[in-house]
Amino acid sequence: MGTERTLSIIKPDAVQRNIIGDIETRIEDAGLLIVAAKMLRMSRVQAGNFYEMHQKKSFYDDLVAFMTSGPVVVQVLEGDDAIDRYRKVMGATTFGDAEPGTIRAEHATSITKNAVHGSDSKKNAKREIKFFFAEHEIFSRT
Ligand code: CMP
Repeated sequence: MGTERTLSIIKPDAVQRNIIGDIETRIEDAGLLIVAAKMLRMSRVQAGNFYEMHQKKSFYDDLVAFMTSGPVVVQVLEGDDAIDRYRKVMGATTFGDAEPGTIRAEHATSITKNAVHGSDSKKNAKREIKFFFAEHEIFSRT
């Protein structure tokens, strides 16, 4: 618990479907502050490195291909218990298991095309935030 930061990615499927605003509203309605944001297109090397922990998994190549297929919005979210709080807003990763009312229940169309990513632990949040943002690109809003 306590104030935390987490990394969010609005994935290419959600950007393509023009639902960035819907996702931002859910983030803000959950009481999370957006303290850094940028739109970018990941290179294959960048996506491969970001998901390096999944390198041996059967879905790795499809995941990298998808994540590089179009622009994404990467953001740092801040708030009390931000990591778990954002995971509740996103819903379960497994397609079909996301709780009603969550981003993935409303917008995921497969386990790969699942609209959003959020860090799953404090350690990974730190690594993922550093992967995309320098400290001076993250703003204090409190
Ligand atoms: P994300 O939170 O970005 O972390 C890894 C991603 O791999 C996950 O969301 C899914 O989009 C994708 N993925 C594809 N297949 C699987 C799978 N079988 N299990 C877990 N993640 C998968």
